[in-house]
Amino acid sequence: MPPSIPSLLTVTLLLSFSLSLSKPAGRRRRELIVDYYAKSCPQVEQLIASLTSQHFKEAPVSGPATIRLFFHDCFVDGCDGSILIAAKAGSKELTEKDAEDNKELRGEGFEIVRQAKAVLESKCPGVVSCSDILAIAARDFVHLAGGPYYQVKKGRWDGKISIASRVKSNLPQSNSTVDQLIKLFSSKGLTINDLVVLSGAHTIGFAHCKEFVNRLYDFRGTKQPDPAIDPRLLKELRMSCPRFGGSADVVAPFDVTTPFLFDHAYYANLGAKMGLLASDQALFLDPRTKPLVQELGKDKQKFFQAFGVAMEKMGSIGVKRGRRHGEKRRDCSLHV
Ligand code: HEM
Repeated sequence: MPPSIPSLLTVTLLLSFSLSLSKPAGRRRRELIVDYYAKSCPQVEQLIASLTSQHFKEAPVSGPATIRLFFHDCFVDGCDGSILIAAKAGSKELTEKDAEDNKELRGEGFEIVRQAKAVLESKCPGVVSCSDILAIAARDFVHLAGGPYYQVKKGRWDGKISIASRVKSNLPQSNSTVDQLIKLFSSKGLTINDLVVLSGAHTIGFAHCKEFVNRLYDFRGTKQPDPAIDPRLLKELRMSCPRFGGSADVVAPFDVTTPFLFDHAYYANLGAKMGLLASDQALFLDPRTKPLVQELGKDKQKFFQAFGVAMEKMGSIGVKRGRRHGEKRRDCSLHV
């Protein structure tokens, strides 16, 4: 006998009621929280902070190194510490860190996580994930360099998979167009505004000549320099980065005046044709991104507030929870 209308209605109602109950709970399970280690490892932030501040004093490049490492971890299959995994000795299976786009990540970022993990394993064994350590250390360095202090939500588990060939298509390139950047960021759940705000991380750190040398001599096949580079900056960059035969190790600062200070100068620089990468400068040239670039260039507080929010958003990309999807590695470079 076909069910009567009222009983169908009851089933539908019951079903949608139970779905509405289970959905938020399911979502809640994947949500990160600030106090995740309140009971299991209450001193986690303090322990990491003493390491990050020491490293920042001894080698300020640890800051940009760690912030970039976190970005590259999050964009390739989520913030799950998979970038830290090293290929097994003798194995042909390369991991994310072996990929071409990650070759220039500085060792300092990996080293900070390694040291923090060693300390944490001695105080709270098997508890704190490598991916949470990286998220906390990146925030510490933003703050140590003069940027905002924002709360880091925690509870990430470490991913079990790290594949070199997943990297290229998931990371932006220095000559990406704004269209390509928007598309990539949106595939990670990030908006055009997030793109502009997160790019502000280029207020600190350095880039190798090969990332911008085409702009200096042959911009997009024109045999001419990029018209959107200030002539004085062009001259200076050409001295450090000759067209042929320069050293592959030479780097130039993103922010010529304060390369270790986390401020909002990045945006004003773009307005003055002082962006280092074509992808940076493009944010000032595109009508979809230019208004926010101009606004942030005038308002440091607004940038700082927005940066903390955007880092939290980036830090929750593809987060893994629980034993089925993740693990807590004892050694961040070794997947067990
Ligand atoms: C929007 C697209 C982006 C592109 C195309 C891009 C590209 C690059 C490139 C080519 C370098 C220089 C690498 C080298 O030569 O060593 C670099 C450095 C850096 N990037 Fe990005 N990046 C982007 C977004 C981001 C984001 C979202 C963050 C962090 C939130 C970030 C943080 C950094 C930092 C801190 C450095 C300096 C690293 C150092 O000095 O060790 N970048 N980026």
